[in-house]
Amino acid sequence: LASATRIGVVGATGAVGTVTLGLLGARGYEHVRAFASSSSAGLTLPYPGADLVVEETTPEALASGELDLCFFSVGTRLSRELVPAAREGGAVCVDKSSAYRLTDGIPLVVPEVNGARAFEHQGILANPNCCTIPLTMALRPLHEEAGLARVRVATYQSVSGAGAQRMEQLRAEPPAEHNLVMDWTFEGYGDESEEESKLRAETRKILELPDLPFSATCVRVPVMVGHSEAVWVELQEPLPAERATELLAAAPGIRVVDVPTPKDAAGTDDVLVGRVRSDQSSENGLAFFLAGDNLRKGAALNAVQIAELVLERERIAA
Ligand SMILES: NC(=O)c1ccc[n+]([C@@H]2O[C@H](COP(=O)([O-])OP(=O)(O)OC[C@H]3O[C@@H](n4cnc5c(N)ncnc54)[C@H](OP(=O)(O)O)[C@@H]3O)[C@@H](O)[C@H]2O)c1
Repeated sequence: LASATRIGVVGATGAVGTVTLGLLGARGYEHVRAFASSSSAGLTLPYPGADLVVEETTPEALASGELDLCFFSVGTRLSRELVPAAREGGAVCVDKSSAYRLTDGIPLVVPEVNGARAFEHQGILANPNCCTIPLTMALRPLHEEAGLARVRVATYQSVSGAGAQRMEQLRAEPPAEHNLVMDWTFEGYGDESEEESKLRAETRKILELPDLPFSATCVRVPVMVGHSEAVWVELQEPLPAERATELLAAAPGIRVVDVPTPKDAAGTDDVLVGRVRSDQSSENGLAFFLAGDNLRKGAALNAVQIAELVLERERIAA
């Protein structure tokens, strides 16, 4: 499978694209092509076996029929333009922008949470937001046991979530001068930021709870890699913290630790969950904290896992 699939990584020079290449290389995929903007064309990127020469991304190149699978991490506007071209050429597309996440009929997938939805794809699968992925992984087992009644979340999002340029800026700045303005738009989202609205809408779609009461406050923090989230849930039935901890420890992709930190999460595949405790401020309330690598499980790893679900199924069906 790894040797046969012809893969395109669009946005290969970016924060997420670089990690995507690392994951594909480690998994033994042999036929991988790297695409980026015209300014990166001709650069070489390290890849096991032979370095990859970056190609300029054009709709024609993606539509040429030479790709079976295509990962996109180029931003929403470009995804809208480029994903249909690759799909036209016959590639199964996994898109990491918000272009298709809420589109009816396009699966929005976290393999550990709603993996079966991936099989409904018609050429495009959407990868959720980097905070939605770990959050839904933790919410799912709690919902199955005691029913979610309400979710509140506060995020602490690292600079790598804003891309490679912002990472360079953080590296270059003296720590006392960090001014991490919120880089999400507020226009068209009422009092919330776009990020806060996305987190609610995507969580509702993935958990298939369209009316789930949900409130988020998202902020950027001066951390290079690793998003953290403080989560407060209200459940329909009582759920002791000890039982919730057991459920989380048994959930795929989650590792329960005493105190999750972005530093411990960075570079690992697992989502770290801890500080699970009763929340006295609400009925059947629980609070916990989580941290995950936004470039791996929050983006590239989740996308590769989605693709592998589909590849495995389509190979079995063939
Ligand atoms: N960072 C995260 O944690 C995260 C998590 C989930 C989802 N995402 C999503 O993934 C996408 C990319 O994020 P990122 O953080 O990797 O951004 P990034 O570091 O800024 O990388 C952007 C990539 O897009 C390429 N690009 C720019 N203009 C292009 C063009 N005209 N044609 C083709 N390629 C072009 C860039 O190539 P050049 O180097 O040639 O400019 C680069 O490879 C966004 O949609 C983001 O929302 C990011």
